[in-house]
Amino acid sequence: MSASETNPAGAGEAQQPQPSNPITQQAADAAVEAALAAFAAAGSVAELKAARTEHSGEASAIAKLNALMRQVPKDEKAATGKLMGQARGRIEGAYQGREAELAEQEAAARLVAETVDVTAAPVRRAAGTRHPLAQLQDEASDIFIGMGWEIAEGPEIEHEWFNFDALGFDPDHPARAMQDTFFVEPADRHLLLRTHTSPVQIRALLERELPVYVVAPGRVYRTDELDATHTPVFQQIEGLAIDRGLTMAHLRGTLEHFARQMFGDEAKIRLRPNFFPFTEPSAEMDVWQPNAKGGARWVEWGGCGMVDPNVLLAAGIDPDEYQGFAFGMGIERTLQFRNDLNDMRDMVEGDVRFNRQFGGLV
Ligand code: DAH
Repeated sequence: MSASETNPAGAGEAQQPQPSNPITQQAADAAVEAALAAFAAAGSVAELKAARTEHSGEASAIAKLNALMRQVPKDEKAATGKLMGQARGRIEGAYQGREAELAEQEAAARLVAETVDVTAAPVRRAAGTRHPLAQLQDEASDIFIGMGWEIAEGPEIEHEWFNFDALGFDPDHPARAMQDTFFVEPADRHLLLRTHTSPVQIRALLERELPVYVVAPGRVYRTDELDATHTPVFQQIEGLAIDRGLTMAHLRGTLEHFARQMFGDEAKIRLRPNFFPFTEPSAEMDVWQPNAKGGARWVEWGGCGMVDPNVLLAAGIDPDEYQGFAFGMGIERTLQFRNDLNDMRDMVEGDVRFNRQFGGLV
């Protein structure tokens, strides 16, 4: 009898069936296949994450298989460990591949949803620009604001008293006649479309504390036919300075500064005697335009003068204490000769090509 035969225990040990390895390639493959199928079926990153929890989380088939590692015979542990590692690696690899795929799909879908069709014909809305007249009016106002003057305003539908009486126009002055002035019905209310910005002088004097230094840019109306040099609606800028001790020298200096700012440093002005009912003395003012297209020349620019004492009295001001000067010029006319425009109608017809010449984006 051999030792082994005489030692049943030993023989028994030798013959005992090897404890079988519960982790088989088949079981691992089944877990991996199930995970891969679930990942492939996931239609979104959110679904994919749920599938990962199911197929590689704590309660997953692969995790349960892994828990059996303790039962694996020692000499198979290394190979089984490798098997399990590979299985887990395949699951993780599949997950990452699918995740990248889905993220890309979702980004692409978002791009499509948020897409802007750059080839579609746009609705063209040009930025637009201010009219050259409005720009010139602002430019003129700014010159006076720069000297500390203020902007004054008055209504375009004005009372006859402000437009004419307070400014010294006789009751039978020809300007009041129907052919010059748009009267507003009913006639007994004595309202009209102001024919000039001079009524703002009276309003400014009544409303403000002295001294007064104001410019009043604004629209005025006359019953003129529209032609190359007239429009029935146009704009003026009025100036009024009332203070102690103002003289004609101040008027001249102010206008000369204005002219230089408007027409260049070499511009100058000249005053010619004239008559206005609201100034005494009154003058027509010409401007020397050094850069005029056809060569330097004198151009008639507007009216001016020392404010008539009767105008001050109409506004309740003592003319012995306060004096001053006033002036007024047409904005259309200024634009016309400053920019060599030969037809005033171009300014009101609204053709954008007119504005474009002034650099406006229309
Ligand atoms: N109001 C005058 C006109 O429309 C222009 C004018 C002349 C305004 C003399 C003035 C001035 O302030 O002093 O023709």
